[in-house]
Amino acid sequence: MREDMRDILLDRAEIARRVKELGRQITEDYRGETPLLVCILKGSVVFFADLIRAIDLPVQLEFMTASSYGSATVSSGEVKIKSDLDEKIFGRHVILVEDIIDSGRTIAYIRADMLKKGVKSLRVCSLLDKPDRRVSEVAADYVGFTIPDEFVVGYGLDFDQMYRNFPDIGVLKPEKYEKTAD
Ligand code: PRP
Repeated sequence: MREDMRDILLDRAEIARRVKELGRQITEDYRGETPLLVCILKGSVVFFADLIRAIDLPVQLEFMTASSYGSATVSSGEVKIKSDLDEKIFGRHVILVEDIIDSGRTIAYIRADMLKKGVKSLRVCSLLDKPDRRVSEVAADYVGFTIPDEFVVGYGLDFDQMYRNFPDIGVLKPEKYEKTAD
C-alpha cells in the first residue's frame, strides 16, 4: 500500500504518542465518571480501539454508522445515520469519537441529534481536524492533529473502502483516485 501514497503525513509512532496523550487528557477530565464512548463507524474503528485502551477509567462503548462520502473523495453533503442509541445515551456523559472532521457536517448532525435526546454532557474527540474545508460550525473538544486540505487514508480512513488497514496516515497519490473517478 505504501507505493500508492504520495507522502506519509503521520506515521504510526506519532499517532500512537498522540493517542496516549488524548487518553490521558480524557482520563483526567472524566475522573469519577463512567463516560459512554461512541465510535462513529467505519473510519473511527482503528482510532477508537487504541483510544479506549489509553483511557484509565471505567468506560462503556457504543457504535453508530454514519456515512457521507460514498465512493467520492469529497463529501456528498448528505449524512446517513444508522443507530439505535436513543435510550442508551439518555443521562450519560457521551464522547463522540471521530477519525476526521472535514466539512463538519457529520459531527454537526450527530451532535444536534444527541443533544435533543437528553445526554448529560457531550464532547467530541477527533483524531484529525481539517479546518480549511469546514462548512458547518463545529469544533472538537479533543483533537489529535490539525491537518492541511489533502486527501488522507490509513489508520481507519478509506478511499472507496480501501486502505483502512494501512497503519500510518498517508496522502494518496492523485492518480489513485482520479483513475477510479473516470
Ligand atoms: C468520514 C469520516 C467522518 C466524516 C467527516 O466518514 O469518518 O465521519 O466523513 O467528514 P465531514 O466532516 O465532511 O462530514 P465517511 O462518510 O467517509 O464514512 P466512513 O467513516 O465509513 O469512512
